[in-house]
Amino acid sequence: MEKILVFDTTLRDGEQSPGATMTTAEKVRVAQELDALGVDIIEAGFPVSSPQEFDSVVQVAKSVERPIVAGLARATKQDVDKAAEALKHAAHPRIHTFLATSDLHLERKLKINRDEALRRIEKAVSGARAQIEDVEFSCEDATRSDLDFLIRAVQVAVDAGASTINLPDTVGYAHPADIERMLQAVRAEVNGIDKVVLSVHCHDDLGLAVANSLTGIENGARQVECTVNGIGERAGNASLEEIVMALRVLPRYYDRFMTSIVAERLCPVSEMLAHVTGMKPQANKAIVGANAFAHEAGIHQDGLLKDRRTYEIMTPEMVGARGSRLVLGKHSGRHALARRYSELGYDLSSAELDRAYDLFILLADRKKVVHDEDLLAIYFEGTMEDAPRAFKLEYLEVRCGRSPSDAVVRVSHNGGPVKEATATGDGPIDATFSAIGELAPWEMRLEEFTIQAAGGGKDAVGEVHLSVRVGGNEFAGRAASTDIVDAAARALLNALDKADHARGLEARAFARMDLWAV
Ligand code: KIV
Ligand code: ZN
Repeated sequence: MEKILVFDTTLRDGEQSPGATMTTAEKVRVAQELDALGVDIIEAGFPVSSPQEFDSVVQVAKSVERPIVAGLARATKQDVDKAAEALKHAAHPRIHTFLATSDLHLERKLKINRDEALRRIEKAVSGARAQIEDVEFSCEDATRSDLDFLIRAVQVAVDAGASTINLPDTVGYAHPADIERMLQAVRAEVNGIDKVVLSVHCHDDLGLAVANSLTGIENGARQVECTVNGIGERAGNASLEEIVMALRVLPRYYDRFMTSIVAERLCPVSEMLAHVTGMKPQANKAIVGANAFAHEAGIHQDGLLKDRRTYEIMTPEMVGARGSRLVLGKHSGRHALARRYSELGYDLSSAELDRAYDLFILLADRKKVVHDEDLLAIYFEGTMEDAPRAFKLEYLEVRCGRSPSDAVVRVSHNGGPVKEATATGDGPIDATFSAIGELAPWEMRLEEFTIQAAGGGKDAVGEVHLSVRVGGNEFAGRAASTDIVDAAARALLNALDKADHARGLEARAFARMDLWAV
């Protein structure tokens, strides 16, 4: 069996999706989960882009031992050196440097000619190799590059010491036939290509990312770059779970390939990422969607009862999908709660358990039964934060059902005096946010806002994820409650806590650089 290396870029390309920003603590937690999932390489981030991103790469590098940890770098000395520095503590570091090779990118974006591009590739790869042995080079926009020039660029990178060559379909424009042609040409023309690992990295703008990745494997790629739930720039990256399960479930095509992925961890990782980012995969998403194993039609249910294989090509157990279960109620104790979290894959520290238990009791008072999804929402609320709590919601009252709605909000700051504001708005959340806006010490603009029901039923816990812009920087906030207006208010205060914290640090440290527009 030939091994296909799984290069997970959830924390880098995935985190570039709008709204998927993660705190350092969240990235570390996701990285540990990716480690348990069995991925071979974790791309932890893009160290030069901000001090916070640099620190995330450092912390991820320290927190996992088995997988290779990669840091991204443009083909410049500054980027490469920063990546090497961030990876200093990694047991198995990799510098992933890249430069565009399509004429469109060279002429219009970078404003350099092909010769200059080759010079930069040589310098970046050899500079990286001088510091770290494991160096990957990516030809950004490879699938729209002139094939002869692409071959020259790959040759330069191989000669300079790259051990992995990645050929991305950066804008998701390739057809599987293009991937086949590109890989066959590179394999035929580049001297020494058999000594390096060939990799594909496909985006999903036409919904072909997984098909293109599989075509890459059929044509010699031994590394696939992908993300959990397929999150990523624009329409996303190739979905890790779909590639892995296609390789496993289709032996008629892929019986000579294997990955080290522990498939039973696919759904738990997907679920954790959804809670952390607020980006729940669509219900009909393959493998990890809520309906991926749901059977509605009577004929299907009848067939399943007779033999599951009639309508299931894999079992939910194979990918760790668990049905929703009613588990705990008002009278369940701390032990039962700790045990259920542990069964769900979360071993809580005693401080985390204290917090979760307090919230659980409040919740169990409002709902008769508490579902697994509610427990996860409770757990993720307020954990893995990168700023202390500064603002406290002391009181909230809203009137809605007629236009406009109005809200009375009382908030304290760092234990100081309680201040009150009232406001009206187009609905209770708008009114509440306007009132908080009156009390906030800075101008703020809401950039993103989502509410999701954690489980089913009208009393489900609602999870709010949002981001606000304060003085040029963006801060994410998250909260959960059976009362969605309360959750929204606390999510906003959670984002303001981060803005408050950032004020005490260097504000520029929190600016995210948008280096990726293509
Ligand atoms: O899509 C892309 O080209 C990338 C590279 C940086 C690998 O993400
Ligand atoms: Zn990408």
